[in-house]
Amino acid sequence: MKICRTIAEVRAELAPHRSGSIGLVPTMGALHAGHLSLLRAARAECDTVVMSLFVNPAQFGEARDLDSYPRDEEHDLAAAGEAGVDLVFAPSAEEMYPPGYQTWVEVTELGSILDGVFRPGHFRGVATVVLKLFEIVRPDRAYFGQKDAQQVEVIRRMIHDLALEVELRVLPTVRDADGLALSSRNRLLSAPEREHAGALPRALATKDLHAARALLAQSDGLEVDYVEVADFDPPVLAAAVRVRSTRLTHGFTRLIDNVVLEGDPT
Ligand code: PAF
Repeated sequence: MKICRTIAEVRAELAPHRSGSIGLVPTMGALHAGHLSLLRAARAECDTVVMSLFVNPAQFGEARDLDSYPRDEEHDLAAAGEAGVDLVFAPSAEEMYPPGYQTWVEVTELGSILDGVFRPGHFRGVATVVLKLFEIVRPDRAYFGQKDAQQVEVIRRMIHDLALEVELRVLPTVRDADGLALSSRNRLLSAPEREHAGALPRALATKDLHAARALLAQSDGLEVDYVEVADFDPPVLAAAVRVRSTRLTHGFTRLIDNVVLEGDPT
């Protein structure tokens, strides 16, 4: 497995592989079974598999959220190797956002609802880095998890609006035995906080907006940012909660989750 730190290296490494199909799995590291399912799908469907590993500062509002984001490059590279990744692109922030950087991609409407209300600028950061990764890797297929349903919808819109030649592949949410959707942020939860977080998948499993709102409103240890039905493709019941934490400096771990209401049961 090749590890590239610069855009020039990625382009040079991929040049001989352009006659076959290239799959890209964009990640921010702290890999879990959800990422591994994306890597497995990419491995099965593409000749060359590229994984990006970049904690994108542009999609974090507060410095402390960026600082507390889990990082473990050694573990991530080992997991990528085991999953059969051919190339990992792990750039520095300066490589992706060189001095004087000022070009942004904004999916205006989809980026400003739901999570966009609570995390202004988040989807601008996501769309910008994903478009830049697409341009660097030029994948035939790109793999994302249904867990981030709004992110998927933003990227789908960007691909359509900018006529990008990349196939969007969306894989089902992977859950732990207690129902919690796998997320890199779960490792920030203590055992009691994790119990409180369990209310989120339980509420969404009702697949009923009012029941989910009622269940979350009476749950201990968390604040609800939103519970909404979103008219995405497919439509989802989506929610975001902040699980109160006594250990983290900013006092909570923010979790998002959704269930598909109709169509493909991802
Ligand atoms: O889903 C993520 O991990 C990130 O938002 C992504 C797509 C890698 C962009 O930084």
